[in-house]
Amino acid sequence: MPEVAEGRPHVILSAAMSADGYIDDASATRLVLSDAADLDQVDELRASCDAILVGAQTVRTDNPGLRPSAARRQERVARGQPASPQKVTITSSGDLDPGSRFFADSPPLVYTTAAAAEALRARLKAAAVVVPVPGSDRLDLAWILGDLAARGIGRLMVEGGAVVLGQFLAAGLADEFRLAVAPEVVADPAAPRLLAGTGLASTALASTGLRLAGVSEVGRMAVLRYLVGSPGADMNSARVVNEGPQTVQDGGMSDTKAASSGLQSAIERSGYYPGLVYDAVSSAVGTEPVVSYVVVHDAHFDPGMEVRRHVTVMALTPTRLVYSHTDEYPADDADPESRAQAETSTEAVRHSRISSVALTRVIPDPASYVPGVTAPSEVVLTIGWNVLSHIEIEPAHCGDENCEADHGFTGTMTADDLTVRVSEAADGPEAVGQVVSFARALTEATSRP
Ligand SMILES: NC(=O)c1ccc[n+]([C@@H]2O[C@H](COP(=O)([O-])OP(=O)(O)OC[C@H]3O[C@@H](n4cnc5c(N)ncnc54)[C@H](OP(=O)(O)O)[C@@H]3O)[C@@H](O)[C@H]2O)c1
Repeated sequence: MPEVAEGRPHVILSAAMSADGYIDDASATRLVLSDAADLDQVDELRASCDAILVGAQTVRTDNPGLRPSAARRQERVARGQPASPQKVTITSSGDLDPGSRFFADSPPLVYTTAAAAEALRARLKAAAVVVPVPGSDRLDLAWILGDLAARGIGRLMVEGGAVVLGQFLAAGLADEFRLAVAPEVVADPAAPRLLAGTGLASTALASTGLRLAGVSEVGRMAVLRYLVGSPGADMNSARVVNEGPQTVQDGGMSDTKAASSGLQSAIERSGYYPGLVYDAVSSAVGTEPVVSYVVVHDAHFDPGMEVRRHVTVMALTPTRLVYSHTDEYPADDADPESRAQAETSTEAVRHSRISSVALTRVIPDPASYVPGVTAPSEVVLTIGWNVLSHIEIEPAHCGDENCEADHGFTGTMTADDLTVRVSEAADGPEAVGQVVSFARALTEATSRP
């Protein structure tokens, strides 16, 4: 799917902290808070981004390589992307060592002040691309994001440290925040804390508008996913609707490029095998842009009372509806050879093949219905393209209880179409509204000759 940056990239903040809010200890060596499972998810997130930014202090103390795993680098190359995302740092002092791991493999972008740029270029030589930022010593992050967008960066991951994360949040320049909490305590006031030492007023950070969009257990870590800013403020970010068992995310129609990148974010935010689901959807969408989408992440109990999760993604392109469903099957406890599996299927249906788009709205208290104001409490969207149908046949009757004549058979044929149901009570009012807007986009698309 094409991902073209416009305005500024979609910005995802990522950090790991101890249970008491520290992101490192006070020792000279880096404290690794993540376990293997969390590192793998972070690796996946890195591989899904066009660029990764860290503050100069993190370059100096952690000396991170920021390269995705070999397998994910191969996947990126197969998708036509550079093997690793572009590395980026910001510094006003220019105090960076070109021999450090951060500068290995490919030249990072180093943003600095106009005054420091020349000396830094002389020191880093071919190891980096130094970009002077107009203005003061405190580099303007909005300017930097604009420059990254102009360089084709559509999706930026910001991996710390505290000062940098705090500035992105306080400036309202972040869309998502992935925070992994380790079951460890640092309890050392000399150690760096998450968002501390940003030099920014606490009121600026207090008004960041973090909204919890998901909580998951990853290895021994608790991973919190926040959306940042007011809902709908940024077309690049899909809106996540609730934290309940079913989460619905919907992209709007007005910006197809943003919708493409928003779909990927929405799938990632669902937290349900995002790499697998996105790859499946992406291969079905192909090179077309996505103009609208819905991601429905659902959970139910199977007969053994195990929680089973599944995700449905619908993406609308200018010519097709792409439908994808992913389900998981746990390992059979009785069979030591058995392994858990996920099954994902996709189907791409031309608009002209869609025979019906049915939307059922349940309106509470209809006597006080106000047009344009009263929202449905529940909606059921059914999309038909007549692929599967089932027939139920039974002996026919004439209505006379005493009649013993043979009336042959009667039956009904029902199309097994795709149905999505969301309700205000289970999913929140926004989810209901968003499925309605996807249905509208689909109806418009299918009504064109
Ligand atoms: N747990 C985690 O997830 C995680 C992730 C990353 C880092 N960390 C930890 O965080 C600590 C480092 O974080 P930190 O908060 O001290 O530093 P940081 O955010 O990594 O970097 C701060 C530095 O970046 C530059 N900078 C930031 N904003 C700037 C701006 N607007 N204009 C110009 N330069 C700017 C400055 O560099 P100059 O001083 O060169 O001017 C500043 O000193 C380390 O202990 C590291 O281990 C933890």
